[in-house]
Amino acid sequence: MLDFIFKPKSIAIVGASADEKKIGHAILKNLITQGYTGKVFPINPNSKEILGLRCYPSVSKVGEDIDLAVIVVPAKVVPSVVKECGEVGVKGVVVISAGFKETGEEGARLEQEVVELVKKYGMRMVGPNCLGVINTEIGMNATFAPDIPPKGRVSFFSQSGALGVALIDWAIGSGFGLGKFVSFGNKADLNETDFLEYFGQDADTDIILGYIEDVKEGRRFIEVATEVAKKKPVIIIKSGTTEAGARAASSHTGALAGSDRAFTEAFRKASVIRVEGIKELFEVAEIFKSRKFPTGEKLLIVTNAGGPGIIAADTAEKNGLKLYPLTKESIDFLAERLPPTAALYNPVDVIGDATSERYLFVLEKAVFDPNVDGICVILTPQATTDVENVAKVVVEKAKKTEKPFVCCFIGGPKVKQGTLHLKQNDIACYDDPVTAIKAYSKLVYYEKHKNRGEDEFVRFPIPDEVKKEISLILETLRDAGVTVIGEENSMKILSLYGIKFPKRGFAKTSDEAVKIAEKIGYPVVMKVSSPNIVHKTDVGGVKIGLKDEKEVRGAFLEITINVQRAMPSAYIKGVNIYEMVAGGKEVILGVTYDYTFGHMVMFGLGGVYVEVLKDVSFKIVPVSKREVYEMLNEIKGIKLLEGVRGEKPSDKEDLVEKILKLSQLVEDFPIIKEIDINPYLVKEKGGVALDARIIIG
Ligand code: COA
Repeated sequence: MLDFIFKPKSIAIVGASADEKKIGHAILKNLITQGYTGKVFPINPNSKEILGLRCYPSVSKVGEDIDLAVIVVPAKVVPSVVKECGEVGVKGVVVISAGFKETGEEGARLEQEVVELVKKYGMRMVGPNCLGVINTEIGMNATFAPDIPPKGRVSFFSQSGALGVALIDWAIGSGFGLGKFVSFGNKADLNETDFLEYFGQDADTDIILGYIEDVKEGRRFIEVATEVAKKKPVIIIKSGTTEAGARAASSHTGALAGSDRAFTEAFRKASVIRVEGIKELFEVAEIFKSRKFPTGEKLLIVTNAGGPGIIAADTAEKNGLKLYPLTKESIDFLAERLPPTAALYNPVDVIGDATSERYLFVLEKAVFDPNVDGICVILTPQATTDVENVAKVVVEKAKKTEKPFVCCFIGGPKVKQGTLHLKQNDIACYDDPVTAIKAYSKLVYYEKHKNRGEDEFVRFPIPDEVKKEISLILETLRDAGVTVIGEENSMKILSLYGIKFPKRGFAKTSDEAVKIAEKIGYPVVMKVSSPNIVHKTDVGGVKIGLKDEKEVRGAFLEITINVQRAMPSAYIKGVNIYEMVAGGKEVILGVTYDYTFGHMVMFGLGGVYVEVLKDVSFKIVPVSKREVYEMLNEIKGIKLLEGVRGEKPSDKEDLVEKILKLSQLVEDFPIIKEIDINPYLVKEKGGVALDARIIIG
């Protein structure tokens, strides 16, 4: 628990200064003027008193317990200060000072020295290079942001200090209550996952917001976020892209993943809500404040203006919400009370001259109507609209139901009071139907993910001898400096994990080729075997549909000549001969590796679909059965596998099994970084891989 950082009983400010222009002054002033009631010890060898408080030359001279030390001295002095803090039993340090890893090698060394000291003395550290920590509940502003935001139950962690200052100011300006805030800068010790975990357990936090540029412990982040998100919504902006992840990819699958995909998938795996910008972060947070969640996707829109109602309905459909008409009983009730020009279906249009009474009629029925899981109230301030009364009606009805409300009051001064009344009662109100519906859809997303149940992780039994055999192949190749494993070994490894390949054989001469082809049965495919050639088709090293002895002999000669011409330096071991497989649908199965979150499996339709449309889906390993089904259903072309125009459906179960096996393979052998199985032919029953490549590293 990090209570000694967020709820310290005593704080020392090392580098407190009498100089009003210095950060050490600002932090001290914040701590003693904004409501913090714990003990505050200014530390500065050159002063006896600062802002009316006794000043100590060092932490060792305080002579009382210090929970937290906020350090604001130049970087090079920080190690000695941290050491002294450790010696006197300080529990936590917040290092505001810049000049560490972010400045280069020397700074990185200094940072490492500080981390080692923090570890040695069993302390925990926020920063360095950070803005500090706030807990509005106890009036503690241990940052140099000038003001403390209003109290609230939303806590926020931020990798960027500058953004933190802006957000605090925004929260103050718009009356958005915050509970705890931390800017963690270089996160040399405590990082986003630690704060997520702490806020997750914090009884004073209902909603967690975050701004991150990267994640330090990817696997732990997913585990912690998954647990936390079951209890409270976690809404995060992730900016920047992981260049390292993008650079690492050398397979087809890796290239398709791009650099941001892993974050999207990690957030989905953990049910974290990802938002794009700062405004959206707060907009979405706003709707979670009511702590009411829809049990389904059915949204009722009630409006006094046609246009905004249509915009809302369009946005709702785009975001997977369902607009069902009210039940007949509700419609009959409304038909008797609303004017004949009103629209009684969904959106319900109470017409421009509506007073609060008409909204009341609709809401009265909607809160009990089984065709409604949540309600969107839209209002534009027309001549007879009693805005504040509409707001009151909404608040009154919202109090009596577990169904969530979202409001959209469009206008300026005329809707101000009504909007305020809604917000004061924790009902989200926006001035744009698109924003309102998008925010609402996050509520549905969260609830759906939260309730999706425990995942089933399948393990296929793999005998120890098989594992040993694969280990031996991989180690031998690694020791020989190989990273891209050739077709034969790739097929061997994948076959041992249950991926089927066509019947095949290897020939050094055309006589051998004929013998093998006859054993396999015509027609056959022939491919050059060379450790130097990755793209065999490009060098004329592949021939397909060979029907008899003559064609096999011809192909053997042709392949050898083609390759010798195209790549004279390539070593030609011989030719592989394969059974020619017909029928089925081409898909691509793969694995890629992300530096932050580890392996991801990939699935997509093969051929043009993958090349041009990039219609693929990814999931972070280990994948559950549920996730694999989700992967299949996520691609746009899934209908093609389900069978169109009378075609028989392809074997989805086979695909699920193969993807689960790939997930297990890379978990068992993490040295495998990437896999491409392209194409994999999925048939009505089962499937077969035609080409495969494994990359180790
Ligand atoms: N113990 C206690 N106080 C000490 C000290 C020590 N070992 N060594 C120095 N001090 C005092 C100084 O005497 C000074 O007090 P004074 O004003 O009475 O002379 C005070 O600590 C600050 O030191 P100073 O050298 O004046 O530095 P500064 O205030 O100009 O800058 C930092 C200090 C930490 C603010 C600056 O180095 C820095 O890192 N700035 C960037 C901060 C930042 O942007 N962080 C990230 C935000 S997101």
